[in-house]
Amino acid sequence: MTGTNTPAPRLRAENLTLSYDQRTVATGLGVDIPDHSFTVIIGPNACGKSTLLKALARMLKPKAGEVYLDGAAIASYRTREVARRLGLLPQSSTAPGGITVGDLVARGRYPHQRLLKQWSADDEAAVTAAMRQTGVLELADRPVDDLSGGQRQRVWLAMVLAQQTPILLLDEPTTFLDIAHQVEVLDLCAALHARKGHTVVAVLHDLNQACRYATHLIVMRPGGEVAAEGDPASVMTAELIEDVFGLPCRIIDDPETGTPLMVPAAPKRPAPDDSSATVMADLSQGHR
Ligand SMILES: Nc1ncnc2c1ncn2[C@@H]1O[C@H](COP(=O)(O)OP(=O)(O)OP(=O)(O)O)[C@@H](O)[C@H]1O
Ligand SMILES: [Mg+2]
Repeated sequence: MTGTNTPAPRLRAENLTLSYDQRTVATGLGVDIPDHSFTVIIGPNACGKSTLLKALARMLKPKAGEVYLDGAAIASYRTREVARRLGLLPQSSTAPGGITVGDLVARGRYPHQRLLKQWSADDEAAVTAAMRQTGVLELADRPVDDLSGGQRQRVWLAMVLAQQTPILLLDEPTTFLDIAHQVEVLDLCAALHARKGHTVVAVLHDLNQACRYATHLIVMRPGGEVAAEGDPASVMTAELIEDVFGLPCRIIDDPETGTPLMVPAAPKRPAPDDSSATVMADLSQGHR
């Protein structure tokens, strides 16, 4: 909930129950996405990060509770109106068979097109800019099916960027990307947030990247609960990471940025007669 003196943010979720048929992923889940923030969501596999993002983008209808966009229930908007305000990069998507990169990215312009007004110079400029920003311009004529996983991921991101929405919801935008492309995509998100005032919400698994880029960090735990949120420097503690991920670790200062750097504890060296050590030795000799 927001305080009485703070205006409600453009995007927030209140008291959500999220489920798939009989499987309940979250109950009583509430989040405020601060306007113009670079919000990063972290949490263990299956804790409900993608489910939350889908609910925030109206791709999943909550069983209870409400998502609010610009002060009105998101359910009350027309589809095109939601798509003009927020864009979602899902965790996985399948391109229509045989479609080229250029045609797929152009689909991001759908919410901006009118019935009688066809493809415009603005549409063309948005598509070209999005492909340039994500480094896929030279792939424009290639079928999406033929691309590598990392190339494909950048094409989907280009499609969302071409939508030119003030709010971007990105589910693991760095999956499949090599480290240089990961940094490039995160720098691009940071620039959209810092220079253009976009609100960016990204799910990331790399906690150290999360701490470097997030202006607001949301940590989820199994059961679809928010375990902690706020500035990474105050949120990231070894106790929290051990509690949420079950991983003993140390938090030190990132030597480059001074943001929290999570270093997993080294595993304890097994005793010589430890049974797991014997199994590993057997495996390395090809025994089963
Ligand atoms: N379409 C679906 N139908 C049924 N259950 C689903 C569906 N999608 C997700 N789930 C279940 O909901 C729970 C939350 O899934 P979700 O995809 O939100 O997790 P996540 O935090 O994004 O995990 P990851 O880090 O692996 O992407 C999991 O138990 C998952 O098995
Ligand atoms: Mg997910």
